[in-house]
Amino acid sequence: MTAPDVMNPSRPKPVYSFQNFWDTTVMRVPQFDLRAQTEKLGPELLEALRQVLYSGAYVQGAPIEELQKSMKAYFSAPHAVACSSGTDALLVSLMALDVGPGDEVITTPFSFFATLGVVLRLGAKPVLVDIQDATFNIDPAQIEAAITSQTKAMIPVHLYGQCADMEPILALSKKHSIPVIEDCAQSLGATYPFKAAAVGKAGAMGELGCISFYPSKNLGALGDAGMVLATDDALGKKVAMLRNHGQSERYIHPLVGGNFRMDGFQAAVLNVKLKYLEGWIARRQQIATRYSEALTQLGVLSKGVVLPARVYQGKTGDSMDHVFHQYVIRAPDRNALKATLESKGVGCGIYYPVPFHHQPCWTSRYGTSWSFPRTEKAAAECLALPIFPEMSDEQVDIVASSIAEHYGIRS
Ligand SMILES: Cc1ncc(COP(=O)(O)O)c(C=O)c1O
Repeated sequence: MTAPDVMNPSRPKPVYSFQNFWDTTVMRVPQFDLRAQTEKLGPELLEALRQVLYSGAYVQGAPIEELQKSMKAYFSAPHAVACSSGTDALLVSLMALDVGPGDEVITTPFSFFATLGVVLRLGAKPVLVDIQDATFNIDPAQIEAAITSQTKAMIPVHLYGQCADMEPILALSKKHSIPVIEDCAQSLGATYPFKAAAVGKAGAMGELGCISFYPSKNLGALGDAGMVLATDDALGKKVAMLRNHGQSERYIHPLVGGNFRMDGFQAAVLNVKLKYLEGWIARRQQIATRYSEALTQLGVLSKGVVLPARVYQGKTGDSMDHVFHQYVIRAPDRNALKATLESKGVGCGIYYPVPFHHQPCWTSRYGTSWSFPRTEKAAAECLALPIFPEMSDEQVDIVASSIAEHYGIRS
């Protein structure tokens, strides 16, 4: 049998076994299209993968070291620890803070389930705090009332690509000596303006920051991967040990950790893609601006549609105030609008339809008498429109005019 030529693979047509919202052969505008980027970077990616393949080192190894080094430099952080996923990055961060039964962790009810799941997995109690309407992120004004003597950590989530309001969060963290784990799974590269004209980077403002490299993220691997950033030296070293079964030296385990390691293939892919990240973010921002201008001009705001707010624009000292992992509008008739868009071949998504306090694993533990009105409103109204760097201006215009048509506006 001849070995397959890895530099010239045949490209079978993908088989889609579930929703077709990202299948470009079905959708006029898919919600995202991972193949477009992979096609463009094909030779570079294949070369990087080929090198790992023939190196024989598939876990840890040189590509991991290179990625960690690049991320440490990017964040000016003392530690960047490559992990198996964003979820495991969060889990290992909580483990490094010794979070367990009897402890409370403050977070938002409006995020991907991983943010909640890791707290529950460790037997700790999540304490939910409602969001701000404009950013969809945790409302710092409501956090202090949630702090108790059991509070062991806070996990603000930087949702959709825009930072939570970190200045007051970090002030509370300092006042009450509660460490902050930033969930920046969706916000790699985003910046935040401190009042003292300093610029914070998502993931490097609290003690620990957790990144996801899930394929659809702004910097996506070809499978699961994640990273923990640590601004605290001792915590960074502990995370690195916990990621590898709590091992300090070969076969010596002062701590009980797990296998939360990244594989070398994913690191090699990320090393190739990292240099394109800022350009991709710039394109995402262009798309967002085009959407906002088009939707405003078309008059859909008069129908109750609310556009995403860039609350830090012009204040961060750079252009990375919002990295637009998602472009999320609010629509009073969200489900009807989604159905119309899909019928017109426009993919879109709801992040997230079921808040944490409505999840069955929450209500079975903590009952149903929870109310976070801003979160519930967001869950009912939010709609993520297609956005990915390779999307054309024409596709943006198709989406905008499809929304206008839904509201009976002729473009
Ligand atoms: C806000 C948030 N937190 C955590 C995660 C978990 O990351 P991963 O899918 O890499 O485990 C995600 C990923 O979707 C996310 O969006």
